Amino acid sequence: MEDLGHALASGRTDLKMLGGGQPARIPAMNAVWSQRLAELAAEAGGIERAMTLYDPPRGNPRFLAAIANLFRKTFGWDLDPQNIAVTTGGQTAFFLLFNLLAGRMPDGSRRKILLPLVPEYIGYADQGIDGCLFRAVRPLIEKSGPHDFKYRVDFDHLAITPDIAAICASRPTNPTGNVLTDDEIACLAALAKSHDIPLIIDNAYGAPFPGIIFEAASPFWAPQVILTYSLSKIGLPGTRTGIVIGPPEIIRAIASMNAIVGLANPSTGQQILLPLVESGEILRLSREVVKPFYQEKCRLARQAAMDAFGDGVEWFMHRSEGALFLWLWFPGLPITSLELYQRLKQRGVLVVPGQYFFFGHDQPDWPHRDECIRVSYAMDEATVRDGLRIIAEEVRKAWGS
Ligand SMILES: Cc1ncc(COP(=O)(O)O)c(C=O)c1O
Repeated sequence: MEDLGHALASGRTDLKMLGGGQPARIPAMNAVWSQRLAELAAEAGGIERAMTLYDPPRGNPRFLAAIANLFRKTFGWDLDPQNIAVTTGGQTAFFLLFNLLAGRMPDGSRRKILLPLVPEYIGYADQGIDGCLFRAVRPLIEKSGPHDFKYRVDFDHLAITPDIAAICASRPTNPTGNVLTDDEIACLAALAKSHDIPLIIDNAYGAPFPGIIFEAASPFWAPQVILTYSLSKIGLPGTRTGIVIGPPEIIRAIASMNAIVGLANPSTGQQILLPLVESGEILRLSREVVKPFYQEKCRLARQAAMDAFGDGVEWFMHRSEGALFLWLWFPGLPITSLELYQRLKQRGVLVVPGQYFFFGHDQPDWPHRDECIRVSYAMDEATVRDGLRIIAEEVRKAWGS
């Protein structure tokens, strides 16, 4: 991240930033935010609620009730405000959850978070305040076309040992765009239940909001499941608003941690969104604006990758089932993805080398870890297309062709 930051700060105007997780600017969504800010400024007490008051550490009570109602009405889940807490973004939600559940225990033992499938979200990797928190399982690789593949959970190697504190997966997954199938989720939930541990599902890109999910996959909740949501990918990353849905005892602990770490959460995002949650408009915006916007970007990016790579070298692209990334795999690449990253940076293209997404997995001799890169398609089409063309050129050069 620091390296990406330095490259951006270098002032190079020709940089193609395909490395970050920055969501796209969607004009129709920006118009909604502008309108909401104007409404807040005009409403009696609007500015106070959005900016001049500390909310309770669990979040604004009306916002918590609106979220509980939205999920109850939409999915019939038995939730009330005691099941909901707000955090300072999804990233903080994970810092709090992981360190609450795992790490060093009062009796000196250590507990881990099990990632049923890596590659997984890079932002989890260093969150343990007391060392690595993760154990990860190598996925099965299913090839479904000359350049298409998908990761699947390898249930035969998914051991829930006594030191496992929780299972966690992002759905859709950053970096791959993989969406765990309903069957995979049902199996993970059953495993978690039978071992009396939580299953954490990270919905940063998921349903029902922001809804950047292109497969028919059902949202899932059960009493031992913890769900996280975020307002970032619907277009409000600067408000730093995350939402945790879970058992009341977990939610109480998150509220206490919020109070200790930050006193209260930012109120602005909650107040911008409140009427859209209460009316259900957030679901329509996700369905009719955000999802089609990214689906089209995804289609264009995949086409650009096909055009750039063609059939000259061996390459694969993970099936794009959601989120905002292409995950490219170059089997047998003569250089590591880190070296490819360095060469691409020289040419003004920033991607993320794949190795960083395989944390918690202690089989360094698995070459696949060094053969993948993540490419964001949230930027404008020309930037993504040019970037992919340069990536293909560098991959061919690495092969000496
Ligand atoms: C899978 C996943 N989870 C969580 C986050 C954290 O996002 P935020 O803190 O902006 O809510 C991100 C950000 O990119 C993400 O990709």
